[in-house]
Amino acid sequence: MSLQNEINRYELLTPRSRASWEEARLYMPGGDTRTSVFWPPYPLFFTHGEGTQIWDQDGTARTDFINNFTSLPHGHADASVTKAIQEAAGKGAAFGGANESQVRLAKLLCERLPSVDLMRFANSGTEATMNCVRAAYAFTGRRKIAKAEGGYHGTHDAVSISVKMSPDLLGDAAAPYSVASTAGISDAAVRNTVVVPYNDIENSRRIIIENAAELAAVIIEPMLGSAGMIPASLEYLTMLRDVTHQYGILLVFDEVVSLRVAMGGAQERYGVMPDLTALGKVIGGGLPVGGFGGRADIMEQFDPTMGPKVSQAGTFTGNPVTMAAGLAAMEQLTSESLMRTEMLRDALAEGICEVSAEFDVPVQVTGLGPFYAMHFTDHSINNFRDAVNVDQDFKRQVFLGLMNEGILVASHMVGALSTPMTEGDVESHLHALRQVLARRLS
Ligand SMILES: Cc1ncc(COP(=O)(O)O)c(C=O)c1O
Repeated sequence: MSLQNEINRYELLTPRSRASWEEARLYMPGGDTRTSVFWPPYPLFFTHGEGTQIWDQDGTARTDFINNFTSLPHGHADASVTKAIQEAAGKGAAFGGANESQVRLAKLLCERLPSVDLMRFANSGTEATMNCVRAAYAFTGRRKIAKAEGGYHGTHDAVSISVKMSPDLLGDAAAPYSVASTAGISDAAVRNTVVVPYNDIENSRRIIIENAAELAAVIIEPMLGSAGMIPASLEYLTMLRDVTHQYGILLVFDEVVSLRVAMGGAQERYGVMPDLTALGKVIGGGLPVGGFGGRADIMEQFDPTMGPKVSQAGTFTGNPVTMAAGLAAMEQLTSESLMRTEMLRDALAEGICEVSAEFDVPVQVTGLGPFYAMHFTDHSINNFRDAVNVDQDFKRQVFLGLMNEGILVASHMVGALSTPMTEGDVESHLHALRQVLARRLS
């Protein structure tokens, strides 16, 4: 079935979402309030979720393999998380002071993450990386950062450089341009954010050394998430650790996504310790959250009893409802549950390769832990350029096709398994893919 036929099928299955979207367009630009979850012809409007399932306004249930962009490790409406939210909300949503749940969640994260001595919370992953960058500027007295091409760290200016862009703007692979990812980014951000090619040891080291005197930090995802769950090589992260250490540059790991590739995050899995770590998503149990932490001497810049050198605020920061939800979610993320979802994810990855081979469709499945991405190509996927160099129409066709067959992944074909998933969910995903590939030419 061609892309157009999948679109027609989607429209037939989702008339209520279409009607809601038409109404939404009267009040929100494009009927949308979150660019990342818009997909053409119009996005689904969801009513509720439970466990592995999510329902749209037409009453269709789908198995949710994206779980609000990987922020729900236990799927929807997990009983313990829901109870924690209800109990906390019943005692008051937020206070203009501290609360005990902040301390418990900070303690859990400091104990789990090997490089984190002290923690702070925020309201989004964006705020988390913003505070890491600010802390690095303040600590080093320098004004530039380096980030990877295709790395997504949220929406503040310093990191909104070379995230997603058309291939003709990329420049030389060995020395990528710094490209603003949206209109409205300050010229200073474009000037002060240096871009390195992910997983390219030689050229990244060279670019970092060339800019070393001005670099406050290198911020990196140990697994390039939104570009397609592309793991860094151990050698690449080790090189970043060594070169940043040598030149007095802070190394920031953005573990907003990768936290659950091991109990102690990707830093524990790789055995490479950053100076600062940005967190988000799962640490809020599904509610809006961010967190950042790291070496005591850097984090102490935020200590109000010492100045503070760096100020951090936020009306909803550390609110007891989010903190309670985060604790309930994190306490259930045990090494057993992580291992089980990783085994299921491996079975899914293997199945995706087998099903694609049945239809002579080339595919690469990338990812770590519960995370996976499907790249329909025969070249290997090591960086952003590899991931965008695929047939975009076919990608859309498979995305909508899976949706038509009851499987929800992100439109860039990434997903994450949740702890309530079983072999049956893996089978459903593979069955759906088989159906989509079988009709792709009809
Ligand atoms: C790696 C990474 N960092 C930061 C962010 C930003 O988090 P938030 O959307 O909570 O601002 C995201 C969001 O997807 C992310 O994937």
